Amino acid sequence: MPGGPKDAASSRGTSSNDGSVKDVDCIHFLQWSLPRLGLRWAGFRRVRGQVCKRLRRRLAALSLKDLSDYRALLAADEGEWRQLDGLCRVSISRFYRDQGVWRWLERDLLPQLAVQASARGETRLRIWSAGCASGEEPYTLALMFAFGDTPKSCEPEILATDADPHLLARARRACYPGSSLRELPAKWRAAFERSGEEFCLRPEYRTPVRFLAQDIRREVPTGRFDLVLCRNLVFTYFQAPLQAAIARRLTDVLVPGGLLLLGSHESLPEAVPGLVQERRWLHRREMA
Ligand SMILES: C[S@@+](CC[C@H](N)C(=O)[O-])C[C@H]1O[C@@H](n2cnc3c(N)ncnc32)[C@H](O)[C@@H]1O
Repeated sequence: MPGGPKDAASSRGTSSNDGSVKDVDCIHFLQWSLPRLGLRWAGFRRVRGQVCKRLRRRLAALSLKDLSDYRALLAADEGEWRQLDGLCRVSISRFYRDQGVWRWLERDLLPQLAVQASARGETRLRIWSAGCASGEEPYTLALMFAFGDTPKSCEPEILATDADPHLLARARRACYPGSSLRELPAKWRAAFERSGEEFCLRPEYRTPVRFLAQDIRREVPTGRFDLVLCRNLVFTYFQAPLQAAIARRLTDVLVPGGLLLLGSHESLPEAVPGLVQERRWLHRREMA
């Protein structure tokens, strides 16, 4: 199993035990439970500290002694799997994450998509940000249209989905710590106003973005999109067969010539019919 014995051994050396859940026990638990949720241990290896911390808190809240008690609870109570699923969502994001990709989008990809949309007689570009966390990614897009050198022939219409209702509530509130905005071009930061320790996106820049609660394992939005961003979610944390199934569904919602953008360290597990690879992390739906 990827990272199994090696991770277990190294964590013994740097054990940060808390109560009765040692790192090594948490690793074994995750290696057992993640596949049952369609998730893969390899994706979680580097972020396991965060998930193990949440697990310890969950055990404390349930007054359970250790992870074998928790396994017994999972066997007896189907609903607890939903709780565990929630504990396994990694929410790291920030505005303008992977700057090179955003620059390329602005300079090359959005103009291409706008030309295609105009040729179809469309005046809007439909974009889906899948796994949008607290809104950093879809709002970065909205800011790119407001401040960047983007095509003026099309208005953006951005749908942002996430499985986590708490993150979506934060996204709708649109207030962030300064660290989230660090990578944004300086000029674009004018879109925020300070509120105590936070920076809140002014309402006029939120308008193109609509948020929706959706679990991408079960459903995708209706309609067709010119651009789908699916970054640092499916192709990092999900098991390969599920990745392949979702990649086909993402292809189906793209217009001909539409683009699927993955995270800069991600790739598809296998070729998808109708999808042409342009970069490891960028694919285009074939023209009809
Ligand atoms: C690491 S963040 C990525 C955020 C953003 N796409 C980025 O690259 O900065 C992963 C997001 O996917 C969401 N997520 C996890 N499982 C999901 C699922 N099954 N369906 C939809 N969203 C999910 C998490 O709640 C989290 O907000």
